[in-house]
Amino acid sequence: MSNDKKMKIAVLFGGRSAEHEVSIRSARSIIGGLNKDEYEIVPIAISRKGVWLSPEDSLQALQCERVPELECGVWFTPGAGEEALRVRAGETMQSMHIDMIFPVLHGTFGEDGTIQGLCEMLNIPYVGAGVVGSALGMDKVLAKDVWAFNGIPVTPYVSALRTEWQSDQGAVMVRCKEKGLGWPRFVKPANAGSSVGISKAHNYAEFVEAMNLAAQYDRKILIEEAVESPREIEIGVIGNDEPECSVPGQICYDREFYDYEAKYLSGDDPIMHIPADLPKEMTEMIVDFAKRAWRALDLNGMGRVDFLLGNDGRLWLNEVNTLPGFTVISMFNRLWAGAGVSYSELLDRLIAYAQERYEIRQGLNVIH
Ligand SMILES: Nc1ncnc2c1ncn2[C@@H]1O[C@H](COP(=O)(O)OP(=O)(O)O)[C@@H](O)[C@H]1O
Ligand SMILES: [Mg+2]
Repeated sequence: MSNDKKMKIAVLFGGRSAEHEVSIRSARSIIGGLNKDEYEIVPIAISRKGVWLSPEDSLQALQCERVPELECGVWFTPGAGEEALRVRAGETMQSMHIDMIFPVLHGTFGEDGTIQGLCEMLNIPYVGAGVVGSALGMDKVLAKDVWAFNGIPVTPYVSALRTEWQSDQGAVMVRCKEKGLGWPRFVKPANAGSSVGISKAHNYAEFVEAMNLAAQYDRKILIEEAVESPREIEIGVIGNDEPECSVPGQICYDREFYDYEAKYLSGDDPIMHIPADLPKEMTEMIVDFAKRAWRALDLNGMGRVDFLLGNDGRLWLNEVNTLPGFTVISMFNRLWAGAGVSYSELLDRLIAYAQERYEIRQGLNVIH
């Protein structure tokens, strides 16, 4: 890219996950927040069925609640780098130069390493975590395995495949008992988001129901001990090998846990305390765990690391989101605003981290 030209960024949004609508809202904010003196935006909308629309159709789709199911309008050529994008122009295809991809896609096919794999094959820099970090961050069981291995405190847990649950419930119960899991317990699909398919089970009957529900959403299920009435603390992390943390914030809501209803349906926005009211030592511990969690999963770009703080003062790492909600009112940006980083500066930095990571990887020796 020459210095006198604007950087051309393809912003991908919509997509095949349950968070399709949230993604459109995040993309609207991001496109609005990118400095137009520095960047030229190429919007690419992806429908719920997975069809990629032309930039022209995508611009319209950006104003919709849901991306319309139209004709495919873009194609990619593996390995072609900045010349990888072809755009429909009437009956023909035209090549369109792009310098970077910003996948503003939450959840499945966005945060799980799949879109990151495509960017790698195209050989284009992209914002956010790489293939491994995204995949580990998305899988709640694998993320906990890696964190526990690295000595980061996670609540006691057990995993089970849906096939095992369906054929031998007793074996799953024995494993929970061996691990000493008490009540109540949380049951979660390993790969999900927005609290979809998650339940809190207080007894055996509720547990069976919770397992059957989670099994509708994934072939792998996480069962973990509940932290009683925890404070939910979240912190933003950005960077590459030397990550930086925002201030921590606390989410408060008026329900038994932060479920789908509380997140999207209740009509009341959750109350966010930024910064969270915490003693200095606790904030330091949160920053330390967040950076260790980041390094353990080999993350890049950005992440929102979520904790549960028990009323006994114990801190548990709950999960990481590698593409957190990114509308102007989202927790992630507000945490960074609390740390003195404006929305558009945050975007500039994410783009710079993507470029840095790409250049470092380009300079590595490749073993053939
Ligand atoms: N072990 C736990 N103890 C207490 N509350 C929990 C626990 N795990 C999850 N929760 C509650 O459930 C919510 C959703 O769980 P989470 O693992 O964050 O899934 P999601 O990826 O859908 O946000 C949390 O925000 C919290 O309110
Ligand atoms: Mg969560």
